[in-house]
Amino acid sequence: MDNIEPDPNAKYGPPSVASRKRVIELLRYDDPTTWDIPWKQNVTPWTKGTYHPSLREVVEDTGIEFPKGNEKRALVPGCGEGHDVIYITSTLGLRTTGLDISQTAIERATRQVCVVNSSPDVPKDLIDFQVRDFFSLAAETEGDKFDLIYDFTFFVAIHPSQRPEWGKQMAALIKPGGYLITLVFPMETKSDVGPPWYLRPEHYDEPLAGHFVKVLDKVPEKLPTGWPEGRQHLLVWQRV
Ligand SMILES: C[S@@+](CC[C@H](N)C(=O)[O-])C[C@H]1O[C@@H](n2cnc3c(N)ncnc32)[C@H](O)[C@@H]1O
Repeated sequence: MDNIEPDPNAKYGPPSVASRKRVIELLRYDDPTTWDIPWKQNVTPWTKGTYHPSLREVVEDTGIEFPKGNEKRALVPGCGEGHDVIYITSTLGLRTTGLDISQTAIERATRQVCVVNSSPDVPKDLIDFQVRDFFSLAAETEGDKFDLIYDFTFFVAIHPSQRPEWGKQMAALIKPGGYLITLVFPMETKSDVGPPWYLRPEHYDEPLAGHFVKVLDKVPEKLPTGWPEGRQHLLVWQRV
């Protein structure tokens, strides 16, 4: 996976308070299309310039037998620049869709794939990026459903009133036996403003109740460089 390691000269670091405040000023939670504004203005404190090391930890170090191979499908809603999409396809060989409501984010993700595709490790033909609202996705047939969905900072980006709908969508989109990885971040003191909206690991329980069983519940050991400890949690769910 060396080909998708971060550019050592890139100016990525832990999210700053000022940039996070600016994101809140730029977004209207009742209009998800406003997400394109921070992307256009380069106010994206969540970006890391690489795939998430905790995603690598869950895929490579936990012993969970995630689906593999190009007959199976993964989805990354709110994929941003798409590094995690590239990681999933390169590691598990899954046909992977990265979805984001921001056209600017998807343009960057598409460029990202072109850059890393110079390496034979990255099967570009298995990756597709779409500008789309996650809540508009519909699985008409079993074949439209996914074997794996990965959520990092998407659940926390949508308004808490949408969490039940998020859970219904996850249940509708994941095949029986398929997996949902939720990387819980950032866990901070209680607040009524967002995004990121107030978040605790137990906030996923109700939206997913009855449709998923929790198969992993741990504090991740591998974090992005310089990011604070104690703000992340890793949960893996299996669709019943
Ligand atoms: C906090 S960012 C995280 C981006 C990415 N996961 C990362 O780690 O870099 C949340 C992302 O969700 C996208 N988003 C917000 N609402 C969305 C929706 N309803 N459907 C699809 N994407 C959405 C935003 O455009 C943004 O890129």
